Amino acid sequence: MFQTKITEMLGIKYPIVVGTMMHLSRAEMVAAAANAGALGVMASAIFQTKEEFQQEVKKLKDMTDRPFAVNLNLFPAMRPIDNREYLEVIFDEGVKIVETSGHKAPDEFAKNLKEQGITLIHKCVGVRYALKAQSIGADAVTVVGYENGGATGTLDITTLCLVPRVVDAVKIPVIGGGGVADGRGFLALLALGAQGVIVGTCTLVAEECPIHPKLKQVLIDATELDTMIIMRSIQNSHRVWINTVAQKVAELEKQQAGLAEIVKVAAGEKAKKMFQEGELEAGVISCGQGVGLVKKIRPMKEIIEGIVHQAKELSQKLAVV
Ligand SMILES: Cc1cc2nc3c(=O)[nH]c(=O)nc-3n(C[C@H](O)[C@H](O)[C@H](O)COP(=O)(O)O)c2cc1C
Repeated sequence: MFQTKITEMLGIKYPIVVGTMMHLSRAEMVAAAANAGALGVMASAIFQTKEEFQQEVKKLKDMTDRPFAVNLNLFPAMRPIDNREYLEVIFDEGVKIVETSGHKAPDEFAKNLKEQGITLIHKCVGVRYALKAQSIGADAVTVVGYENGGATGTLDITTLCLVPRVVDAVKIPVIGGGGVADGRGFLALLALGAQGVIVGTCTLVAEECPIHPKLKQVLIDATELDTMIIMRSIQNSHRVWINTVAQKVAELEKQQAGLAEIVKVAAGEKAKKMFQEGELEAGVISCGQGVGLVKKIRPMKEIIEGIVHQAKELSQKLAVV
């Protein structure tokens, strides 16, 4: 059940992608997703050097024999990112699937990736970006709606409206997401025509997710009202969990503060303190509205299989109506 063009194309058991997460999508998290039957996506931009990144890819390959992807970051970044260095590792290590995400299409890499026989998935937030990805040879496109944890873009289209629009507009398979945290959302997106579903927020409380238990607990306690969009004024809109730091960023934006001032407060280095030491007011964490559906800390396998199991039950119920 739930075999789709995406399971076939990527060689995965379930049509579920555990989205890349800055600072978190290292070998352990990605292997947990892959071993659970989903596609795990390793971040590259969190590795300062090509060597560090290569070591982590090797470690991941030791931890799973299932398919995984690597993300190339096309968002504006605090430090200069040379994706060509990560690409060299991707080629050297025989990575078979690359996901790109960011403010632009991967024009400069698409041809190169295709020549190496690598499957390219581009993640974006609108019909026109999906069409552009298709036009440069992407094999699949991921689209995430306004509910999404992390970067939301500026179009603010809800998942319910965005996914079928993109499905109708492109010929390549579509992976949809933003707000999916259980079998109901998963099945709904398949009903909208998606061939795969991407999740992020609901895996923040996976046992394998490297954030502090205190942070996992506040996410469990949070509801769909506890997220907000910040950094729109610096063209970097992100949906995050509301804490005093997120509110401070919003306040600075109201006062038309500049990039440097905002970034100082929202910097990734501070988030690391929050993630590792459980200092809840040290930084910001991306988080989607689906957090309201997140109820307990569980192994990744249980989260993924729970989604599929619930969707199966639901589809059987629907079939008899
Ligand atoms: C903590 C966190 C960090 C994220 N970091 C990134 C990132 O660096 N690059 C990216 O393309 N997407 C990032 N995302 C988005 C996810 O890959 C995924 O698209 C999203 O979480 C799916 O929506 P959901 O959170 O509503 O399930 C992040 C999401 C979260 C929750």
